Amino acid sequence: MSLGLHEIVENTRGKNLFFSTDIDQNIQDADVIFISVNTPTKDYGSGAGQAADLRFVESCARRIAEAGGGDKVVVEKSTVPVRTAQMVNEVLKGANNGFNYQVVSNPEFLAEGTAMVDLESPDRVLIGGEKTDTGNAAVKKVASIYANWVEDDRIITTNLWSSELSKLTANAFLAQRISSINAISALCEETEADVDEVAKAIGMDTRIGPKFLKSSIGFGGSCFQKDILNLTYLCRHFGLPEVAGYWQQVISMNEYQKERFVQRMLDAMHNTISGKQIAILGFAFKKDTNDARESPAISICKRLLEEKGSLKIYDPQVSKESILSCLDISDESVLARLTFSESAEQACSSAHAIAILTEWDEFKELDYKKILDTMYRPAHIFDGRNLLVLEKLRELGYRAFGIGKA
Ligand code: UDX
Repeated sequence: MSLGLHEIVENTRGKNLFFSTDIDQNIQDADVIFISVNTPTKDYGSGAGQAADLRFVESCARRIAEAGGGDKVVVEKSTVPVRTAQMVNEVLKGANNGFNYQVVSNPEFLAEGTAMVDLESPDRVLIGGEKTDTGNAAVKKVASIYANWVEDDRIITTNLWSSELSKLTANAFLAQRISSINAISALCEETEADVDEVAKAIGMDTRIGPKFLKSSIGFGGSCFQKDILNLTYLCRHFGLPEVAGYWQQVISMNEYQKERFVQRMLDAMHNTISGKQIAILGFAFKKDTNDARESPAISICKRLLEEKGSLKIYDPQVSKESILSCLDISDESVLARLTFSESAEQACSSAHAIAILTEWDEFKELDYKKILDTMYRPAHIFDGRNLLVLEKLRELGYRAFGIGKA
């Protein structure tokens, strides 16, 4: 079992891990510098809502060039659009300070909640550099850091642009699998096929594989949507509208899935939830994190509020403040229909319906029989993560719905 971040910092701090705010001195002393800053979606000017905002990456490059101190390898760790290294290179070379800089791309593939495990035993480490002698030497230098704990055959090297593009492509492919199985979930609901059974059947084909085939209310998180938007923006920029359209569809399907879930709730509840209490179980974009960025719960809750439902939200880790900031509602009359609960049981008490929006393990263990006694009848449960066994809930007396299940 690998150590968590806290223990690792405790064990290494002051030995080979140091924190400092003396940026220039540390730039001067370093041989290798990792740029690991945020690259959010641009929310202003040209490319707003799609392109990556590279101003933090650029200001790092400027600071490195200004601080000087010797030849350096500059590693792009942040997720960036393909060809960003060109910009970083221009900034570094533009300083004309007599030092030689080599830009290397080394994208990060770790996922939230499993970051330390992913770092310790990655599927692969990708390092891209210029195909010149100095470029190759820089790639080798970065590879030698990882070689301390990663087997050689898992460290792959490519040219700069392949490495930059692989990160966006990996996330686009992962998201595409989710949208693909979610598209099939809609068909399952019409045909009495069961999406979990279909996923299992296709996933056993080793060419397809079983991972990222869990049908859901849609993907969320700070990466998938951002990276696909960025990818489609790049495709348009390079005059490839058909390619952009293909990837755009992955996002459209994700939006459709969230709306479909809301529509299913409305249909089941006589097309109105006005005046009804709905318990929202889970707000995080996935379990084991307190992160709600781009969580599918955001648009689902907003839509339910639009339909004049009253929501009681419970999430084991996401704070009330964070939920409110994600929902970004200023209308007092809408806010009055929003409350927060300390437990799942409390959220469900006096509710007309339960919506499970995050697959937290604790939701599997709840006493749904006891909960039913505290709810209005008919009691509805909408399992947006296919966490529970619908037949059992129906035996208890719920009107139970899953994703991709009749
Ligand atoms: C992702 C990538 O997995 C990681 O490699 C990259 O570095 C960053 O982006 P992360 O955003 O932490 O990581 O979450 P991930 O586990 O990939 O899940 C993303 C979303 O997809 C979640 O909302 C999750 O619930 C959803 N999901 C995932 C599904 O709906 N079904 C699945 O089968 C898998």
